[in-house]
Amino acid sequence: MSMLTGKVALVTGASSGIGHAIAEALLERGATVFGLCRKIGKIPEAATPISCDVRNPERIAHAFEILRHATPTLDILVNNAGIAYLSSLLEGEVKEWNEMWEVNVRAVAICSQHALRMMNPEGGRIVNVSSLSGHRVPPTGGFYAPTKFAVKGLTESLRNELKAANSLHQIASVSPGFVDTPLVNTYFRGREEDLSTLRESTRMLEARDIARSVLHILEAPAHVEIGDVVLRSVDQKV
Ligand SMILES: NC(=O)c1ccc[n+]([C@@H]2O[C@H](COP(=O)([O-])OP(=O)(O)OC[C@H]3O[C@@H](n4cnc5c(N)ncnc54)[C@H](OP(=O)(O)O)[C@@H]3O)[C@@H](O)[C@H]2O)c1
Repeated sequence: MSMLTGKVALVTGASSGIGHAIAEALLERGATVFGLCRKIGKIPEAATPISCDVRNPERIAHAFEILRHATPTLDILVNNAGIAYLSSLLEGEVKEWNEMWEVNVRAVAICSQHALRMMNPEGGRIVNVSSLSGHRVPPTGGFYAPTKFAVKGLTESLRNELKAANSLHQIASVSPGFVDTPLVNTYFRGREEDLSTLRESTRMLEARDIARSVLHILEAPAHVEIGDVVLRSVDQKV
């Protein structure tokens, strides 16, 4: 039996890529998993869907009302939902910046606030899916990389607040380089040749590699608080 057996977890963006793999990994460990996203038909079968567009704060509040009716307590929140447009600061569109800000940053703060109100005072866990682009800015970082730097700031800021309140809740992040998911196609939109070159030269991480790191964070002994796990393919140059 795993220490995650019987725990209740909410995974945002469980309909695709990394979130889907994390939800599956938690289910394999015997956790009860709720998957929050728009395409609820695509979450793992054994997870419970909660339909929500995280760009909308009221919809997030409503999603947590539904969650509270389904379960009295929550042990784990994985803030994974994210979007990556290749949107430069010189020429990008404000519409895309808004969406990345709302999904990658603001929703992380809002979901964390709601989740913490439901977490058992003996200690819940939040894991934010950040990015290598939250540690260094790649040449194409545009507006996406700053949103991931903000996730790093949010993670550390919330940890400070929890410590100041003598809370037993823990917060961590996981920061992958390129992972082979649909998000990469959006990021390379209009630069399909670059994506082909990347695929030929680099074996990207797989979504389940990130899920393994999330399990490592969640299964750490109670006295061990992991701050961040940075991982990239051995082939990734920058
Ligand atoms: N792939 C990479 O190379 C890579 C590298 C580093 C970090 N990351 C991070 O990993 C996380 C997951 O990305 P992924 O690669 O797995 O991408 P993905 O396959 O495109 O999945 C993105 C997920 O986010 C959800 N999402 C997007 N907008 C949403 C919205 N408005 N409301 C609710 N859910 C929304 C999507 O669900 P619905 O469409 O069903 O709503 C989907 O489940 C992101 O935070 C991303 O920044 C990815």
